[in-house]
Amino acid sequence: MAPLPSPGSAMTVLVTGGAGFIGSHTCADLLDHGHDVVIVDDHSNSSPGALRALREVTRRELAAYRADLRDDRALGEVFARHPIDAVIHFAAKKVVPESVRIPLEYYSVNVGGTVSLLRVMREHAVRRLVFSSSCSVYGDQFGHPITEDEPPGPVNPYARSKLVCEQVLADACASDGGLSVIALRYFNPVGAHPSGGLGEEPRGAPRALMPCITQVAAGLAAELLVFGGDSPTPDGTAIRDYVHVMDVAGAHRVALAHIDEQPGLRVRNIGTGAGTSVLQMVAAFRDACGVHVPYVITPRRSGDVASLVADASRAGREWGWRASRGLAEMCRDAWRFRLLHPKGYKG
Ligand SMILES: NC(=O)c1ccc[n+]([C@@H]2O[C@H](COP(=O)([O-])OP(=O)(O)OC[C@H]3O[C@@H](n4cnc5c(N)ncnc54)[C@H](O)[C@@H]3O)[C@@H](O)[C@H]2O)c1
Repeated sequence: MAPLPSPGSAMTVLVTGGAGFIGSHTCADLLDHGHDVVIVDDHSNSSPGALRALREVTRRELAAYRADLRDDRALGEVFARHPIDAVIHFAAKKVVPESVRIPLEYYSVNVGGTVSLLRVMREHAVRRLVFSSSCSVYGDQFGHPITEDEPPGPVNPYARSKLVCEQVLADACASDGGLSVIALRYFNPVGAHPSGGLGEEPRGAPRALMPCITQVAAGLAAELLVFGGDSPTPDGTAIRDYVHVMDVAGAHRVALAHIDEQPGLRVRNIGTGAGTSVLQMVAAFRDACGVHVPYVITPRRSGDVASLVADASRAGREWGWRASRGLAEMCRDAWRFRLLHPKGYKG
């Protein structure tokens, strides 16, 4: 395996799920910093329109393949065609209530996809991987910012599938001393590319808070459904650590720059350290964008937890990574994307 190009010089990065929300923003960040990008995505939760938007926003070319990650043969052909230096693995299913309903599909895509990827990486001697993990692996046991040392306690199939992936990655590293993996446990990525050209545009009805807020603000839905008003939090609604998606995107580039420092699996939190309730986010959106979002409180969803806030100081100490964008910027950028794409990406 060739040594990793020094930070600042170009790498070719395979990005699974690169047409999705966090993947597309990370590709934009990588392309803007001179790296080359190869995307594999089956578009089960994204549109090919995101790839066109990515080319427009960055004015860069990129290679993109439509394939299911679990198809070893298709994946192998992509590795054979490109000189891949490193992989960032986003492709997964991520909707908590859906994971309670169809857990086997979650284990198949999330765990099975990761196993396929590791197998093909080994065949092609690619041994640098940044993995999308999730704060949900911590569960619901914290009244304080969570460090990476807290024992995991996932409470739904989605979160368990992410924890199983981390365990698979640890085992793969233990059996191959040359493999370096960084699992980034994101808290709650929101916002959009500052150009408004890229944003969060899942297939079907949005389920995450910010796209639901912008839908209501745009008049595409009558009111925001707030799931649970009786949580053990000051205003009764769930508290999350929202982090701008461009800060999250940059964390991947920074992780890649440090990946060769240590073989094995490292786990790092990616968040801001600040908790915001659903009602506080609705107020922040009104203040930042000047749009009132009517809401109605409904019962809590199965699998949801009351509060999750990061202690992300380790990524700061070790890599100098810190989230720099605040709530107002998250709201304004998400709103700009919605105004420019009232019907989402086309195609
Ligand atoms: N968005 C969040 O709040 C959040 C928080 C923590 C962790 N994560 C993790 O980050 C990653 C990216 O999340 P996102 O919000 O960008 O999700 P997303 O759904 O927007 O992106 C995932 C992409 O993967 C693709 N994909 C899914 N299954 C695939 C398969 N079998 N083969 C190929 N492509 C496939 C989808 O089409 C989509 O483009 C996921 O692993 C998710 O679990 C997300």
